[in-house]
This record gives sequence, structure tokens and C-alpha cells, in this order.
Amino acid sequence: MSSQATADFSHTTVLLEETVAMVLGVKTLADVPKRSVSGIYVDATFGRGGHSRLLLEYLADDACLVVFDKDPEAIAVAQDLAQADARIKVVHDSFASLTDSLVTLGIDKVDGLMADLGVSSPQLDDGTRGFSFMRDGAVDMRMDTTRGEPVSAWLTRVSADELADVLFEYGEERHSRRIARAIKAMENYDSTLALAEVIKQAHPNWQKGKHPATQSFQAMRIFINNELGDVDEFLTQSIDVLKAGGELAVISFHSLEDRRIKQFLQKHSRGQYDEDAHLPIPPVRPKYFGKPKRVAPSDAEVKANPRARSAWLRGATRSDVAWVGDV
Ligand SMILES: C[S@@+](CC[C@H](N)C(=O)[O-])C[C@H]1O[C@@H](n2cnc3c(N)ncnc32)[C@H](O)[C@@H]1O
Repeated sequence: MSSQATADFSHTTVLLEETVAMVLGVKTLADVPKRSVSGIYVDATFGRGGHSRLLLEYLADDACLVVFDKDPEAIAVAQDLAQADARIKVVHDSFASLTDSLVTLGIDKVDGLMADLGVSSPQLDDGTRGFSFMRDGAVDMRMDTTRGEPVSAWLTRVSADELADVLFEYGEERHSRRIARAIKAMENYDSTLALAEVIKQAHPNWQKGKHPATQSFQAMRIFINNELGDVDEFLTQSIDVLKAGGELAVISFHSLEDRRIKQFLQKHSRGQYDEDAHLPIPPVRPKYFGKPKRVAPSDAEVKANPRARSAWLRGATRSDVAWVGDV
């Protein structure tokens, strides 16, 4: 399996063929003739369209691909693509709006949902977006620059304790209190490089080969974009949005996300008694998905694209067995 270097968009798509095969419900794309698959598919994180473009090669003329992204720059690329391809519909919103956005498009159920979570390389590479501790820019970090609050504004009003909680919860930063105090002592948040330097000075020790600001930047980014909340919403809505036999395929890049996806799929593929219901005779929990699938990038992909190192692709087929009692 290969990854596609989209040099003109400077984003190298991770687990490209594996994800498209999973969302089409096949072991390998060699099993699918080009332009043969009808149905409705969703790419919840268009980015620069790496996964979308490959999926479109397999979709028939009467198929539909709905693409979501929060980022206006990603949406501009998607709109260009949609102008030349009537199968594509573009939604500038969070994938947390999945059900509502599909209803607005007149869509009730879909055949496949894929998501490639986190930030894109263009977001990281453009210092003005504020995601990078290697390039200078104002401390923004919003994926959707048309709404919400930049990290710089939030840092101005948050308390050191609240900030420390965010660094700990979303960055698993063990030195969160000390770092939060140092950040709060800064005069302004106009420069990502200055912020990274303050974090470095406050950090007593860090993992070799890793910048000391890695976890703190990750934490602030996850917080300001409500990344984990959006993923929870998306996963929950996938249950209703997917047809029986429909496919879910989600790539994550860090353990906080991966754990959520894994636990969601485990919970909804087992169909167990629901102890949380506190009833004398507990009802069974619906078995919404078949056996969870998990794919890691190949050694060759990790060698070619180190960003793939921490990626996991997980997914499952939406079951047509609603209750464990039906099995
Ligand atoms: C890793 S990139 C996707 C790259 C894409 N698969 C490609 O091959 O070009 C993640 C994208 O998801 C978007 N994104 C992240 N969270 C989102 C959310 N909750 N709703 C919509 N888009 C989101 C980001 O703006 C970014 O463009």
C-alpha cells in the first residue's frame, strides 16, 4: 500500500488506500472496478482531499460524496473540486454537525463515513495559523478562522489553574502547573515562538527528540477546537447516519482520540447487558457494529512519511442486527 504525496497541496495523505478500502467495505481496492460504486459517502475531514480524490475514482457517476471541513482554506480547495465534479457536495462546518448537515442536503442515511482526524500539514506549515512551535505567528490555532476564539484571547482570560488542567488533560503534560504559571506571566500571546520558548524554559525535562512545547501546543489546540467533543458527537451520530452494512473508517494520531474510537467500537460491537440502566432486569445494549477492525501504517509508509508513525485506522461495519437478543 502506498501513500499519495500531494506535493501541490503539501499534505501527504496517511493510510490512503487502506482507509478508502475500509470505507468501501473491501479488503483491497484491487477488488473494486473504478467508477463502479453507487451510494452516498462522507469524508468528514477533507483537508486537501487526498482520501476524497481516491474514493472518487471508485464512485459511480450517480454516487455522492459529501465533504466536511472546518477550515476555510480546505473548503476553498473542496469547492474547486466540486465545481468540476457534480458528485461532490461541500459542507463548511464541523463533522459534529453530521446529522443536521446531511438533513439540510436531503440525506438521511449514508453508505460510508471516513475521517482523518487532527491537523493537516498546510495548517502546521503556515506559521500565521499559530499551530506550530517551529514557525512564528500569532497564537491562534483555530481550524475554523471564521468563528470562535483564538488561543491568544483565551490565554488572556483563563486562570493558571484552568490552563494547567487543559495542559494536563489534553496534552498529558506532567509539568502542567509550572508551565501554566509561566505562560500566564507572559505579557502577550502575539508569538508562537515566544510561547514555545517560555514553555521550554519552564519545562524541567523532556523526552529526547521531542520539543518541550509539543504536548502543551497539542493540548491548547485540542481544547480551542473542541476536538474530543466533536469526535464523540461524530461517533455517536454515525450510529444513526450509517445504513445497515455501511462502513465507518477513522484515522487518529494520538492516544486520547484513539482510545475514544476504540472504546466506542468495543462498546457498540459487543451488545451487552447495560448495567448503567440500574433496572431490576437490565435491558440489552444494542449491537450496532460488527467486529472492530484496526490497521496500522506499513513500515514503508512510516519511513516515507514520519507523520504516519502514530496513526491508527479503526473502523467497523454498521450491523443490521439491532439487539444482541437477535443474534
Ligand atoms: C489530517 S487533515 C485531513 C487530510 C485529508 N485526509 C487529506 O488527505 O488531505 C484533517 C482535516 O480535518 C479538519 N478537521 C479537524 N477537525 C474537524 C472537525 N471537527 N470538523 C471538520 N473538519 C475538521 C482539519 O481542518 C483538517 O483540514
